[in-house]
Amino acid sequence: MAPTAVSGNGNGTRHEVLEQAGRPAGSAPGHPVDLETARAAIRLALPEPGSKFSQDDEWCVVAEPDGTWGEYRFHDYDRIFRVPGLYEKIFYDVLGCDSPRFMVGLLQDALGGSGVEAGSLRVLDLGAGNGIMAEELAAIGVPHAVGVDILPEAHEAAERDRPGLYADYHVADLTALPAATRETLAGHRLNALTVVAALGFGDIPPAAFRTAYDLVDDGGWIVLTIKDAFLAETDTSGFGGMIGESIRSGALEVVRRERFQHRLATDRSPLLYEGIIARKRSPLAG
Ligand SMILES: C[S@@+](CC[C@H](N)C(=O)[O-])C[C@H]1O[C@@H](n2cnc3c(N)ncnc32)[C@H](O)[C@@H]1O
Repeated sequence: MAPTAVSGNGNGTRHEVLEQAGRPAGSAPGHPVDLETARAAIRLALPEPGSKFSQDDEWCVVAEPDGTWGEYRFHDYDRIFRVPGLYEKIFYDVLGCDSPRFMVGLLQDALGGSGVEAGSLRVLDLGAGNGIMAEELAAIGVPHAVGVDILPEAHEAAERDRPGLYADYHVADLTALPAATRETLAGHRLNALTVVAALGFGDIPPAAFRTAYDLVDDGGWIVLTIKDAFLAETDTSGFGGMIGESIRSGALEVVRRERFQHRLATDRSPLLYEGIIARKRSPLAG
């Protein structure tokens, strides 16, 4: 299939620090510009706009160092994280994702409205990936974030691209959490959970979300994004019953809820998600 949109340029390597003002989405306020150089140099192409794929099956092709084009499925995060800048290039530069910054902005508003200091938060960032949420949380003054992801490649990418932002990072499957890891996570005295762009679609299942939720103190802050269809009454993923019913019962007390554009699909249509900031009042339904 012929590529239809190619993006990228080749700059020389520079060792500078980006200023926060005007930084591109998904870029850290203070990390070395090498990541940005790698990101800018990547050339990728999407399928033609008339083709339609389910969110599980989306892909692009990327120019490899040997001059060939390699195909990357968007859910092959292990392969994507191995290439510095590729995650940011696909999802931020080409498909317009800005969900971490959007959700942390909503969180900041919600905290302000409740008279709570960002400096009091101790966050579990589930599906942490290469650390973009950690940099957004740090930018509003959150002092303590713990990452969890199922992929070792995500942890390696976070260390490589945004070192020092997580106080701790665990590669773990929360549907089968080892007792020692549970104890370590509990020791962080977590009072907030963030799960951005990571629920459903073969990524984080309801049982893993529940395990993470149970690690957060009562009254803690729950920050999540989820595709709107997963919260519909027709949903069969398990999230509609668990999260939808918890909102209805008051177990999850919603402080802010916004429907927003998570990113574009490869056919350039908008993917709409719900962004929810809530307080944990009691265990999840179900
Ligand atoms: C689209 S990325 C989002 C990363 C990050 N939250 C962000 O907004 O930049 C989804 C992440 O969820 C992780 N993930 C998928 N299934 C998971 C699971 N069962 N448990 C923990 N993490 C998972 C993937 O490895 C990937 O890093």
